Amino acid sequence: MTPESFDFIAALVKSRSGLLLTPDKRYMLESRLTSLLMREALADLNALAVRLRDPRSAPLAEAVTEALTTNESSFFRDGKPFDHLRRALPKLATARPAGSALRVWSAACSTGQEAYSVAMIAAEMGAELQGRRVEIIGTDIAGEVLARARDGIFTQFEVQRGLPVRQLVRHFTQEQGRWRVSAELKAMARFDRCNLLGDLRVMGRFDVIFCRNVLIYFDPPTKTRVLGALAAQLVPDGVLYLGGAETVLGLTDRLVPVPGERGAYELPRAVAATG
Ligand SMILES: C[S@@+](CC[C@H](N)C(=O)[O-])C[C@H]1O[C@@H](n2cnc3c(N)ncnc32)[C@H](O)[C@@H]1O
Repeated sequence: MTPESFDFIAALVKSRSGLLLTPDKRYMLESRLTSLLMREALADLNALAVRLRDPRSAPLAEAVTEALTTNESSFFRDGKPFDHLRRALPKLATARPAGSALRVWSAACSTGQEAYSVAMIAAEMGAELQGRRVEIIGTDIAGEVLARARDGIFTQFEVQRGLPVRQLVRHFTQEQGRWRVSAELKAMARFDRCNLLGDLRVMGRFDVIFCRNVLIYFDPPTKTRVLGALAAQLVPDGVLYLGGAETVLGLTDRLVPVPGERGAYELPRAVAATG
């Protein structure tokens, strides 16, 4: 692949998704796009770059972008945010009128483990939620992972990563060597496509937002833009969770760390008071 082809594909992917492909990602680009090249009967990445220059290639550009996403996820990933959520949900429920729903957004949800982890917490809470429903919306830029999240079927390997046996037995049933999430959890969660670079106002406002392990793939201006857009969708007493390697510090003052809670962020007090 020529440097020009690499630069063209990298710029296209960045403009569509925010994903930053530095020259050291050349090998990754080659390996992730091999099957797409075969499917499209293209000789190499230079031929792909030529094809992508055609304005009618939007579906191909989408497929290229999707192939370059990293979709790794696991149940109760990093632990801490979920411990905090267990304490935060009852407080949020108390602050809401009877009959209202608590809205939780798993932005960049990949195959759904994060959304279903939240659903398990909510399902196990019972009376602590004082009758408030929990509505979980998982979104991602990639259609294939969303389809898997909607199916709610996980391999033995996937459930072994982070899901305690007690919860596996309670919330999943075994089916031909794989594990199907219960109807109760499925009813709490829905999965839609949403690009974090798009207009996030269409999503409505949320009590809780998880946006974890995706900002690491963006450059600082893109992180700032996405964090600002997420802050705008958070209710005044809401909470945003980021991944272990992510922070708002040095990127935006529209969110501040929740004191003593790693990975949890909230609106600054002055904003929350007027929100
Ligand atoms: C590493 S996974 C993180 C999954 C989950 N949040 C977790 O922490 O386990 C990152 C996800 O971000 C998605 N993604 C990348 N760019 C995106 C964008 N611009 N908008 C929405 N999702 C995006 C990818 O498709 C991928 O599924």
